[in-house]
Amino acid sequence: MRALVTGASSGLGLALARRLAARGDQVLGTDLVEPPVEPGRPVGPAATNLTHHRLDVRSEDDWEGARTWVEDAWGGLDLLVNNAGVAGGGRIELCSLEEWSWIFDVNLFGVVRGTRAFVPMMKAQGSGRIVNIASLAGLVHPPGMGSYNAVKAAVVAFSETTAHELAPYGVGCSAVCPSYFRTNLMDSMRGGDTDLAAHMAHLVEKSSISADDIAAAVVDGVDRGHELIIPDEPARAAYALKLADREAYDAQMRATAARVKERDT
Ligand SMILES: NC(=O)c1ccc[n+]([C@@H]2O[C@H](COP(=O)([O-])OP(=O)(O)OC[C@H]3O[C@@H](n4cnc5c(N)ncnc54)[C@H](O)[C@@H]3O)[C@@H](O)[C@H]2O)c1
Repeated sequence: MRALVTGASSGLGLALARRLAARGDQVLGTDLVEPPVEPGRPVGPAATNLTHHRLDVRSEDDWEGARTWVEDAWGGLDLLVNNAGVAGGGRIELCSLEEWSWIFDVNLFGVVRGTRAFVPMMKAQGSGRIVNIASLAGLVHPPGMGSYNAVKAAVVAFSETTAHELAPYGVGCSAVCPSYFRTNLMDSMRGGDTDLAAHMAHLVEKSSISADDIAAAVVDGVDRGHELIIPDEPARAAYALKLADREAYDAQMRATAARVKERDT
């Protein structure tokens, strides 16, 4: 398989790129920053099936460069993983419009730019799959996380639309909705609600789930052609509760909101 992964220098993107490369796929890992060097592992495109390119998902020029590289080097693409993302959220009045704009530019428009860059190629091939890393926050919406919930819900909606629209062309699309897992995500957090940010950082750091656990479930879900991949048990349980018992879900969210209110004082 020929795969392009964004945000592949850390966390889930790095775990996915390594996992795909380890099974023999050709992988173009892209990111704003260089990937960490693994001791004992050869570096460089000639030496490995895991190649790195700088790609800022906010730049249409970078996407155009990646598309040209893929065309020239591989003649097509089987898997596009729109993974790059940043942390955000915070209480409504503390999250500025600049923060909203920034998180949408990276987490939603990054996905849209990548999809637009590669859809014509995949349609022409009559094959391919786009995998968008959303979040459990795209399915259930805890208080204090308005911008992150909204942007990830938009990624889920766009993924479902893409799956429907491209099905007649033989092209698939999956949305991935994990709960908290351990990565460097919270390093990217900006914004006014430092108190809630510290709380979210704690949830990411203390999670028992690793990026590699999520990557394994994502690859399995992609191989099976699943359109909604909920890769961990806490996320499956949280979404199942919302679907099965809306009152209990609302009560749980209101209890969380009451705890958030205590932070006001
Ligand atoms: N960690 C979690 O708890 C969690 C939960 C649900 C969803 N997610 C999602 O998983 C995805 C991966 O995040 P992670 O947790 O591995 O975080 P991470 O910070 O470890 O990795 C994200 C990578 O994206 C890159 N990136 C950021 N902005 C970019 C840009 N403009 N262009 C290109 N690359 C950029 C970063 O440099 C970094 O290497 C994100 O979309 C995130 O929202 C994470």
